[in-house]
Amino acid sequence: MKFFADTADLDDIRELAATGLLDGVTTNPSLIAKSGRDFMEVTREICGITDGPVSAEVVALDHETMMKEAEVLRKIADNVCIKVPLTVDGLKTCKALTDDGTMVNVTLCFSANQALLAAKAGATFVSPFVGRHDDNGTDGMDLIADIRLIYDNYDFGTQILVASVRHVVHVLESARIGADVMTAPPKVIMALFKHVLTDKGIEGFLKDWETTGQSIL
Ligand code: G3P
Repeated sequence: MKFFADTADLDDIRELAATGLLDGVTTNPSLIAKSGRDFMEVTREICGITDGPVSAEVVALDHETMMKEAEVLRKIADNVCIKVPLTVDGLKTCKALTDDGTMVNVTLCFSANQALLAAKAGATFVSPFVGRHDDNGTDGMDLIADIRLIYDNYDFGTQILVASVRHVVHVLESARIGADVMTAPPKVIMALFKHVLTDKGIEGFLKDWETTGQSIL
């Protein structure tokens, strides 16, 4: 499963890239606003940190303007992935862009039928939002399992990108189901490294090592 960072914070992206485990980045208008940075500038800088896909979202609601925005965004770098909402105009834009060889991430997916449409529109990635489903009282991971089943039934090449990940259990469940990608806030990705028994184990080993009076270097 690929790991994308769901952030526009450059320091966090650099830190994750340094682990060697970062496969891409996703942004959205809220994350850009939170960064306080210029959209084009920060996206260009992110594209320079990772070779993986960097999702940059259009803000227009109609197909024609979405295409114009996509044209501007895809010039930023070769690894820009155009993010479009799961609407009629969004999927029209998705079809036009993917037919032309551009990567597209269809976002704001909340049902398996919507994911089916995104796949038929040739999406590179579909982003089902699990955390917002949970917030709404339904299990977001059930949606991921349904999409996996449907995509496997028809051999769709669209990658399931689990979004709105809020905690490490979402990551575990995504991997169990066989999602292709998960995008999470940096703090969730860093939390994956943590286990209290790992820390305790290191502490114990080092204590015993000290008693030997030896050093490796
Ligand atoms: O980038 C889309 C998604 O990951 C947003 O997550 O936490 O705002 O629901 P959240």
